[in-house]
Amino acid sequence: DEDGSLTHVVGLVRDVPDYPAPGILFKDLTPVFADARAFTTVATELAACVGEADVVAGIEARGFLLGAAVALVAGVGVIPVRKAGKLPRVAGSRTYDLEYGTATLELPAETVSPGARVFVVDDVLATGGTAAATVALLAVAGAEVIGFGALLELTALSGRQALAPLPVHALLHA
Ligand code: PRP
Repeated sequence: DEDGSLTHVVGLVRDVPDYPAPGILFKDLTPVFADARAFTTVATELAACVGEADVVAGIEARGFLLGAAVALVAGVGVIPVRKAGKLPRVAGSRTYDLEYGTATLELPAETVSPGARVFVVDDVLATGGTAAATVALLAVAGAEVIGFGALLELTALSGRQALAPLPVHALLHA
């Protein structure tokens, strides 16, 4: 970080105690996206990790912001992987376990061709459940997921192991 760009990004991350539940320390990244220099830095750094991907998939909701920016910088298209019930036509859906209950993600129809190489983007990698479900959804649809990128990795929650052997790129660690 020779020019201090990532240091500038780190300075915009805000810790929010007891959100969304008591005892949870939430990392609020919205000031990063709202700052022109920081937004450019994170999009450019993750775009450098996209490799030979044909398309970026961003995960709802904050993964849409970052994924679209990464795709634009990398010169590829973007696919929104959505929470259930938002899409008029779906190519597939995947339900996965949360700490309490389950969640379902859906892939829009006609977004991945068979064999398409996909780079998945989200704002935060925590347990990896969301990212792993997205990877599985894309794989079932015939895509080849070649990497995952996040702005922030919560290392203690072992999301990287949940995605192994997929290459995982994270700009910040907490
Ligand atoms: C957050 C975050 C990731 C996911 C990471 O999304 O944006 O998508 O949790 O957690 P995991 O690695 O343990 O699966 P959230 O559910 O808050 O959705 P939102 O972005 O729509 O608010």
